[in-house]
Amino acid sequence: MTAPLPTARRVLEATSTAATLMAGYSEEDHSRLRPLLGSSRFGGAFGYNPFTLYRAGAVSSPNALVLGKIGNGKSALVKSYLARMLANGFPALVIDPKGEYGPLAEHFGEGAVSLMRGGEGVNPFVPPSACDTSTALEFNCEMAERAIQALAGRPATSLEGASVRSVLSALGDEVAFLPLRRGLVALDERGGPPGWLGRYSRGSLAEAVAALDRLLDSGLVSAGRRTGSLASRLGKGIVAVDLSAAFGSTLYSLAATMVLASVRALQLQPGSPRLVVAVDEIWALAEDPETARWLRSYWKLSRALGISNLGVTHRLSDLRQVAGPTTTALLQDSETVVAFAMELSDAAEFCRERGLPPDLARTISRLSKGSALWQFGKSLCLVDHRLTATERILCDTDGRLRGENQADARLGGEGGGR
Ligand SMILES: Nc1ncnc2c1ncn2[C@@H]1O[C@H](COP(=O)(O)OP(=O)(O)OP(=O)(O)O)[C@@H](O)[C@H]1O
Ligand SMILES: [Mg+2]
Repeated sequence: MTAPLPTARRVLEATSTAATLMAGYSEEDHSRLRPLLGSSRFGGAFGYNPFTLYRAGAVSSPNALVLGKIGNGKSALVKSYLARMLANGFPALVIDPKGEYGPLAEHFGEGAVSLMRGGEGVNPFVPPSACDTSTALEFNCEMAERAIQALAGRPATSLEGASVRSVLSALGDEVAFLPLRRGLVALDERGGPPGWLGRYSRGSLAEAVAALDRLLDSGLVSAGRRTGSLASRLGKGIVAVDLSAAFGSTLYSLAATMVLASVRALQLQPGSPRLVVAVDEIWALAEDPETARWLRSYWKLSRALGISNLGVTHRLSDLRQVAGPTTTALLQDSETVVAFAMELSDAAEFCRERGLPPDLARTISRLSKGSALWQFGKSLCLVDHRLTATERILCDTDGRLRGENQADARLGGEGGGR
């Protein structure tokens, strides 16, 4: 429960609300949307569901961004949101860079998939039968070249690009990294890809093959077509993909890309369920321009994939590289934005970018932990998120700071507030 607002803040928020309403936003009633996530400062319960809103034409994109200073409840909101979306029939996958979503996934879903720790890897390639052959080939060439670039430390050469394309187009639905590696070795022995007019000497594909060997050894990708535990678990509950082994290393953006591409490949299969995909600490994918570009195109594909993406970051400026200095593509394609407390200067920038009245910046900068401003469609709401007792335990990232052992926490079975 949050304490009553001091009068000065209430006045400030009332002023902001008036200005906001003048700017064309409405205080719509969101209490009928499921799941419920908390209470609106404008009165009543607050529910949110991107799929329902999209179907009703209230938003034109099902994607969302969650922003705010460290420790203000961004991940806690995502955790309770994923649990409650699942209770309403929407499964989820979360890219978990800090390894903090495992307990949530164990409790409400399918558990954590730990990549690069000796388990089965993912297969990011799209089988041509899942969509049209040329689209699948473009997606797959891009993935293979990104892997070569990340592990060889330089962009793929045109010879490597042509060779990859030649092998991948011959693999059909058996497309995977080990057959690709074998195909490149065979091409190297035969003197290069068919129709190659440039110079060729034996061993020209050795660096690409070595890069694929390193990728296969990393445990990030599966050798064969089988996508292992991700394919069997996706769409059934909450799946947390633990990438903490790579977070902070140069492999992280490749790892996250491979996982998202695997989700794309699985979602392109007929009959796949609508899915929430959360990417915590999404700023870490903005650091590498190639990944940032890829992320933008993946983000835009959400409607075709039946995915509602949810990115979590600290500030808008962290996303500058994704959005670019002038375009704000990722922001524009994330119609929902959830703003937790930010520094005043960040909040002012946020209000500018989102076309909100400038005086709302002060309100955002003074939000308390667990409270956020939601903006989507024509709606604007100040929301206090309420965690259930179980969620409180599953969301507790401060336990270690307080010297508590999270493993000792006893989880209750209730799931109220949904
Ligand atoms: N609505 C809430 N009610 C009660 N406690 C909350 C609420 N939101 C967050 N907390 C608690 O606050 C702490 C920090 O929250 P959280 O981990 O979500 O922060 P964060 O914004 O994701 O931080 P970071 O940027 O470091 O990832 C957690 O221990 C969490 O349990
Ligand atoms: Mg967090």
